[in-house]
Amino acid sequence: MMREDRYLTFALGKGRLAKQTLELFERIGITCEEMKDKDTRKLIFVNEDLKLKFFLAKGPDVPTYVEYGAADIGIVGKDTILEEGRNIYEVLDLGFGKCRMCVCGPRSAKDLLLHHELIRVATKYPRIAKDYFYNKKHQTVEIIKLNGSIELAPIVGLSEVIVDIVETGSTLRENGLDVLEEVCPLSARMVINQVSIKMENERITKLITDLKSVLAQ
Ligand code: PRP
Repeated sequence: MMREDRYLTFALGKGRLAKQTLELFERIGITCEEMKDKDTRKLIFVNEDLKLKFFLAKGPDVPTYVEYGAADIGIVGKDTILEEGRNIYEVLDLGFGKCRMCVCGPRSAKDLLLHHELIRVATKYPRIAKDYFYNKKHQTVEIIKLNGSIELAPIVGLSEVIVDIVETGSTLRENGLDVLEEVCPLSARMVINQVSIKMENERITKLITDLKSVLAQ
């Protein structure tokens, strides 16, 4: 028997990802009317009929809520999953929020990468950058953690290259930088708490099946 009394809780990354998640969920009959109110400052929303709870968190905190079981399910970018390295199950690629993690810089930096020079790499994603340079490329680099506007770093001389997300490529273009190497493709993913996947197996399996069938359309 399903334990219909218990709420299934979702942690959504605030912003564009949350909006696209709700649009996708509507297609499988899961709605949350009070969340559509653009002016609301509320952080938790409930669908009493379906016994679902949704809350909005900062993207990088979503895997944390899911690992500790404060949320059963999280929707978050693959970049955040890789960077946070939490103990969670990634079960589904939702297909939106598609972009790429890349090494970028001025074209002149291409030679530095080619010759494995000891360069500086600025990034919001030190773990991804470290894994890429040390484990994949076997290149020793100095990684500098920044919190945003990463494209500034090679322009002002903080670093030779950056590791950052490229979506349309317009930020790079407008700042005279290029993609030099691709680290990995990214998109929004569904992640599950390791206990919930067993305890709420029936509801979660149905959710995944329903999502897969609309994603295939
Ligand atoms: C992201 C990313 C790039 C930009 C890429 O930054 O870090 O700067 O978007 O998108 P594009 O290829 O379509 O131009 P975001 O806007 O999230 O802000 P941030 O600089 O504070 O990280």
